[in-house]
Amino acid sequence: MGTMAVTPPEAVTVRVPAKVNLDLRVGPRRPDGYHDLATVLQAVSLYDEVSVARWDDWQVVPSGSYAALIPTDDSNLALRAARLLADRFQITEALSVRIDKDIPVAGGMAGGSADAAATLLACDQLWGLGLEREDLLLLAAELGSDAPFPLLGGTAIGTGRGEQLAPALARGRVHWVFAISDTGLSTPSVYAECDRLRDDAPAPQVGAQLMTALRAGDPKALGAALHNDLEPAVFSLRPGLRELRDAGVEFGALGAVVSGSGPTVAFVTDSREAALDLSVSLAASDLSRDLRRAKGPVHGAQVVAVPRPD
Ligand code: C5P
Repeated sequence: MGTMAVTPPEAVTVRVPAKVNLDLRVGPRRPDGYHDLATVLQAVSLYDEVSVARWDDWQVVPSGSYAALIPTDDSNLALRAARLLADRFQITEALSVRIDKDIPVAGGMAGGSADAAATLLACDQLWGLGLEREDLLLLAAELGSDAPFPLLGGTAIGTGRGEQLAPALARGRVHWVFAISDTGLSTPSVYAECDRLRDDAPAPQVGAQLMTALRAGDPKALGAALHNDLEPAVFSLRPGLRELRDAGVEFGALGAVVSGSGPTVAFVTDSREAALDLSVSLAASDLSRDLRRAKGPVHGAQVVAVPRPD
């Protein structure tokens, strides 16, 4: 067979999912300021799309539902991801990074990290670097504890800072309702509040009941086993969220939990209809104005479009 000339793509678009923590156990604060975690993560069907294209200068172009909340300076994690890769591979050209944002910002659903993960994958394709998934996971971990998981997707157990991942055996699908807050919470401030509220913490370990529920594909047992050690800290900073969580359970959710460092509250149901009913009840209660439905688990980051010049 002859070899075909490969023309490098002009632009690459990657679609990347949000995450929810089904379980988040937080160990003591380490000397480096991080906390040892044991967490169970699930990718859910709320997506950002990140497109990278060659450009005269580095730039971030925000679009989508939460465009106004995306930083366009050097603090943008997607921009940092592209520059990290350029640095590592001595690439001198600049890129335009368009972020079409549908994942809530600063909500505990790893939106910024998802964009960083998507950018790594998109740049790998654009620049033809041929990186293995393992390489991408290691690069992602340099950008943030939550950045590797969106590359993997599905349901996974995270240890270390949360960045060391192992796929979890999970059957079936669940239907989520997410109550999004108007204003986000900063992750470091939530961890600091967690440390302030408690004296000591045991070595973190994910709940056995949750793992059994996932293996069995039992949404009711899964709902009952949702857990987050950061919840007391999030409720201390945002007391109204406790009421929101309790209302969702009263309205028929099989379980409720703050996702990651919040303030998004996640409710689990076993069908599309149940999720729709629940979001209608929550909307009527006036406890949350921005409600989103999604299913999980879903695949990790995927290339969706690679337009090539004719
Ligand atoms: O890794 P990342 O940069 O996303 O972490 C942001 C902040 O969240 C850290 O600076 C730290 O304050 C807190 N964090 C933590 N323990 C972890 C992950 C994050 O204390 N395992």
